[in-house]
Amino acid sequence: MKKISLPENSKLLSSDFVFGVATSSFQIEGAAEERELTIWDTFCQQPGRIKDGSDGLVACEHVERWREDTDLIASLGVDAYRFSIAWGRVIRADGSVNEEGLAFYVNLVDVLETLGISAHVTLYHWDLPQYLEDRGGWLNRETAHKFAEYAEVIVKALGDKVASYATLNEPFCSAYLSYEAGIHAPGLKDRKKGRQAAHNLLLAHGLAMPILRKHAPNAEHGIVLNFSPCYPASNSEADHNAANLAHNYHNLWYLQPILTGSYPSILERLAENERPEVISGDMDIISQPIDFLGVNYYTRTVFREKNGWFSDVPPSEPPLTTMGWEIYPEGLTEILVDLQSTFGELPAIYITENGAAFPDEVVNNRVHDDARIDYYNRHLLAVHESIQKGVPVCGYFAWSLLDNFEWAEGYTQRFGIVYVDFDSQQRILKDSSRALRQFWLARKAQL
Ligand code: NOJ
Repeated sequence: MKKISLPENSKLLSSDFVFGVATSSFQIEGAAEERELTIWDTFCQQPGRIKDGSDGLVACEHVERWREDTDLIASLGVDAYRFSIAWGRVIRADGSVNEEGLAFYVNLVDVLETLGISAHVTLYHWDLPQYLEDRGGWLNRETAHKFAEYAEVIVKALGDKVASYATLNEPFCSAYLSYEAGIHAPGLKDRKKGRQAAHNLLLAHGLAMPILRKHAPNAEHGIVLNFSPCYPASNSEADHNAANLAHNYHNLWYLQPILTGSYPSILERLAENERPEVISGDMDIISQPIDFLGVNYYTRTVFREKNGWFSDVPPSEPPLTTMGWEIYPEGLTEILVDLQSTFGELPAIYITENGAAFPDEVVNNRVHDDARIDYYNRHLLAVHESIQKGVPVCGYFAWSLLDNFEWAEGYTQRFGIVYVDFDSQQRILKDSSRALRQFWLARKAQL
């Protein structure tokens, strides 16, 4: 079994760096009968949407097994656990609060506290209640206001017991993949809709921020965005421009409004009827200061010019993960340094997700996933490098604690550091969780 090792002087080994594992509600919880249906439940019912035809009704049975799972987290020696709250487990279609659903999260946070694990909450990780989609979902501005009301219920219940609140996880996915590319729920394909959903999501973020601050003044508040640095497929000027356009369209579209109050100028290249409707005052709501930026990083993307726009070139050279993604740790350092130089000072950065799917197999109750250990080690070194270069990274969360429902890929992709046998629901430590545990416990011992 490979080991995780970092330079002795690394900031990652200091007591103010936060290490954790991450999950999300729809991907692990199950217990669908105790919550409202979501856009993902609907999507899973549509033939051809999910690779293996599966759904999230049972997933990892986390709602039933949460005590076992929290003990598992504690045994790894991490400081923190990042999870999300299922909106529809807490707010019913008639607007009333589902007290039992809310209690699930209150108990979770309380138990984490007794285990000495800090709670990092994400309020929206893609599981929009279907009753809101029925009223237009993220195409309806009203959903942003509904989100702010939901955020208030949560923050009043959990308050400062939570270390950090992230409003949204990867609005790129909830907008672009969901309303523009048709790959994620609700599966629409329309550029204007994608841009409008993105705007309403950002508005939801902005509307929730002051509410979160008011009720949890001692917690940190921010948002989680995904970044994939964009590289040109060739040295041609056209491909360079394409990569730059893609960077603006996929990465900066979500960050720039928050940090500066304006959309990237690529907006002006869109036809009038493809641009989001922005009402006066919206950009001020969106651009209030954030305490932290969560960065999810998995891979880089290569683009070439196509009809004056950009088109991605899927990687073909091994080693690739089973998602078909290139393993490119340098990209993490490069994107962080690049964002820092674009915006000047960055807020505190948490790497809120990083990890990989590999073809794991159980042999004698063990999973030998050296490739994943190597992936983690190289990306932790990339975080170390970023800090050396002046980027204020203060935490890192492995994605994911458990193998889980990987959206349109169903259960075909295993991102866990812990293997889940979906027939028996048995959790089996992969070698990667053993290597990380060794690293995390050793780090704790010398603090
Ligand atoms: C990002 C998403 O936040 C998470 O839900 C997903 O499982 C991972 N990427 C892996 O694709």
